[in-house]
Amino acid sequence: KKKLIIDVDTGVDDAMAIMVALANPDVEILGITCCHGNTPLENVLKNTLRVLKVCNRLDIPVYRGCSKPLLARKQHAGDYHGKDGLGDVPDPDAPGLDLLQKKKAVQAMIKLVKDNAGEVILVATAPLTNLAVAVQLDPSLPKKLKALYIMGGNTESRGNTTVCGEFNFVADPEAAYIVLDRYTCPTYMATWEFTCRNSLPWSFCDTWLAESTQKADFMKKISSLSRMKAQSADYKKEITAGTGFNSCDVYALAAAIDDTLITESEEVAVAVELEGTYTRGMMVVDYIQKLKKDHKAIIMKKVDLEKLKKMLTNALK
Ligand code: BDR
Ligand code: CA
Repeated sequence: KKKLIIDVDTGVDDAMAIMVALANPDVEILGITCCHGNTPLENVLKNTLRVLKVCNRLDIPVYRGCSKPLLARKQHAGDYHGKDGLGDVPDPDAPGLDLLQKKKAVQAMIKLVKDNAGEVILVATAPLTNLAVAVQLDPSLPKKLKALYIMGGNTESRGNTTVCGEFNFVADPEAAYIVLDRYTCPTYMATWEFTCRNSLPWSFCDTWLAESTQKADFMKKISSLSRMKAQSADYKKEITAGTGFNSCDVYALAAAIDDTLITESEEVAVAVELEGTYTRGMMVVDYIQKLKKDHKAIIMKKVDLEKLKKMLTNALK
């Protein structure tokens, strides 16, 4: 079985990613670590437990992580994910935070990776604050990982949060910088433009959500606001590259659990801009090898959409 730690800021697409992981019998989720991001940390914790409850998997350990970025000002993505992070649909039966583990996310990450050295795949679908703090505390952590999968960054200076910055990187540029600099394990990246260019047709999304299962009902409800936003004229203008449904975090997670999902990728060294009037948080891609970095990230380019559809379909069964 593949051993995963998922670092999330649950959000609608984080929720989808968690559900895809839970549906795969060949995956063992060692823990879910929570980070500030789409919504304040308290909501992220609650949302993560809500997802596990719908899937009947409250046995999976959930950990409280960093509630703010290292240096940047806190920001959330309420416009898209809803103020509560899951589409602002009331849930009177949400599980209580007493179900959280006592240990904190960063400590748990370090311990789980140490106890399963060489086996853990870390999937990060949030701002990278927890991962940055973890490597500061344990510099040997990256070499004990099997691989790291990140949803974040951009390759064509096309932003979704600032003119040229993607949300997870803009929400904590210093953390993203540290992670890309220090995690020398195989590092796979699902960037913003990659997810846009590999979006799924809306017609698939409609069929997918039409299943009459509890999980499909839940997904339909929590994704209603973001689906509406993603189909609005403004949003299409913003991304221009994507005309369909791109559930960003699912790409990183799905690639981590199926090695054949990505059909084209490119190895390039990357870094993060920390200054710049317009460019803070933008990922810098060293196509001409000026940075002289030994470690290259594996940037995803193309996905097998039929496989991805199957994984999403299974997730709501
Ligand atoms: C990323 O930002 C968040 O809003 C999503 O959950 C995803 O992780 C996309 O830029
Ligand atoms: Ca996310």
